[in-house]
Amino acid sequence: MASREPIDHPGRRAACKACIGGLTVGSMAGVGFPVISFLRLPSRAAADRPVEIALDQLQSGQVEYAQQRGQQVIVLSTAEGPLVLSAACTHLGCNVLWDTADRVFRCPCHGATFGETGEVLSGPVNAPLKRIPFEIKDGTLFVT
Ligand code: FES
Repeated sequence: MASREPIDHPGRRAACKACIGGLTVGSMAGVGFPVISFLRLPSRAAADRPVEIALDQLQSGQVEYAQQRGQQVIVLSTAEGPLVLSAACTHLGCNVLWDTADRVFRCPCHGATFGETGEVLSGPVNAPLKRIPFEIKDGTLFVT
C-alpha cells in the first residue's frame, strides 16, 4: 500500500535553495554594479589633476579629450589657435564626439552637430559648446 505522506527530498531542497540563492546574488550584482558605477563620484585625485597638453602635441584636425573636475573637456587646434571646449552637449549634456572626416562634433544622443569652434550647426540646441578658459606657458596649454 502506497503512503500518502509527502516524500521529503533534502538533497533536492538544498539544491533548489542554492539555485535560488545564486540567482538572487547574480541578479543583485547585475543591477547593483551598473547603478553603483553610475552613481560613483570621480576620485578627488583625478578630479583635481590639472589638464596640461604640450602645444606641439596638438595637430590640426585632431582633438584631445581630457578630464577636468569630473567633466570632459576637448582641446583642439583651430585656424585661430588652440581652443578648449566643454564636451557636454548644450541640449541635455551628452558628451559630443569628434568626427574627423567632417570636422564636426556630433552628439550621439539626439543628433546635434557643432562646428570645430563649438558653434551650433544643427539639432535641438540653441547654444554653442561652452568655451573653457586656458593659459599657455612655455609651449604648454593649461586648462584653468
Ligand atoms: S543631448 Fe545632445 S542633442 Fe540632445
